[in-house]
Amino acid sequence: MGERYLVTGANGCIGAWVVKLLRQEGAEVVAFDLREDDHRHRLINGGSMPEVEWVYGDLTVPDDVVRASEGATRIIHLAALQVPFCRANPIQGAAVNVTGTVNVFEAARQHGVVQISQASSIAVFGTTADYSERILPADAQRLPATLYGVYKVATEDLAKVYWNENKIRSVGLRPHTVFGPGRDQGMTSLPSVGIDKAVRREKFHIQYGGTLDFQYAPDVAAAFIHAARFEVDGAPTYNLAGHSVSVQHFVDATTAATGFDGITCGTDLLPVVEGADAGPWHRDARGPGPTPLAEAIAETASIFAAAI
Ligand SMILES: NC(=O)c1ccc[n+]([C@@H]2O[C@H](COP(=O)([O-])OP(=O)(O)OC[C@H]3O[C@@H](n4cnc5c(N)ncnc54)[C@H](O)[C@@H]3O)[C@@H](O)[C@H]2O)c1
Repeated sequence: MGERYLVTGANGCIGAWVVKLLRQEGAEVVAFDLREDDHRHRLINGGSMPEVEWVYGDLTVPDDVVRASEGATRIIHLAALQVPFCRANPIQGAAVNVTGTVNVFEAARQHGVVQISQASSIAVFGTTADYSERILPADAQRLPATLYGVYKVATEDLAKVYWNENKIRSVGLRPHTVFGPGRDQGMTSLPSVGIDKAVRREKFHIQYGGTLDFQYAPDVAAAFIHAARFEVDGAPTYNLAGHSVSVQHFVDATTAATGFDGITCGTDLLPVVEGADAGPWHRDARGPGPTPLAEAIAETASIFAAAI
């Protein structure tokens, strides 16, 4: 039997890249999201839409998730509300991020899905002030500083219970600051918006500074696909690593790639750590490494330029 991938949150930034990469290999894909929203797919596919089966539904409604999962062999579960949306509406945040994830695992149980990869986040850790290390060791204590982080801790732990009680295989990944075409919402999306503004020759200020671990959206998408495939006996969660550099360094690289120097950044720190050790991910999964930063920013700028 061939593989069939269900991608939840398929219209989001990482979801759109996952769909694109899966279709490039000719895989069968079911794209699940709340409603039609083609803007990220069109941006990263030169104006056209990928050929996949679209299922619109609500992750918080168990029947919608069961319907979407029918025939799926693997699920890449990305749908969630990000930090500002959870802060604005904690009840909906818990419903989507926690109950929605329970719905995914229940649907996987019902349909005998082989493996799930799911999005956790660096937000399961606290802020730099909570730790003595700049880059956290892989086994650092989780000390979430936001409700979003608390919800992600719950998804990591419920995956372990589904393994212990139902033998459902899953892999959780914790991205940090995803950037690239399609990253247009959420707390850490401003550096990507800055590349778009630079291409348009419009001044733009990123309100924060500090060091973040910048991870290119296609690299992160490839990691989620790999996490749905590599054989695990359990429900491990791994940190991901890209380029741990200052926001100012990212701005300078944007200036170098676009020739526009009107992008600036502040000095305030975001409530996240600078990065976390991804050694176990590379050791266990032998996942692909990151695209060089300058190359990723140049590629992003050229996709934004082509879309104007
Ligand atoms: N982008 C980052 O920097 C980052 C960092 C760490 C973790 N993550 C996690 O990775 C995943 C994907 O991130 P992203 O940047 O692609 O997010 P995104 O906000 O771009 O996309 C999320 C998608 O989920 C969908 N969604 C929301 N509620 C839904 C519901 N009730 N039913 C069905 N679909 C629903 C949205 O419509 C959207 O298309 C998320 O779980 C996020 O928490 C992202």
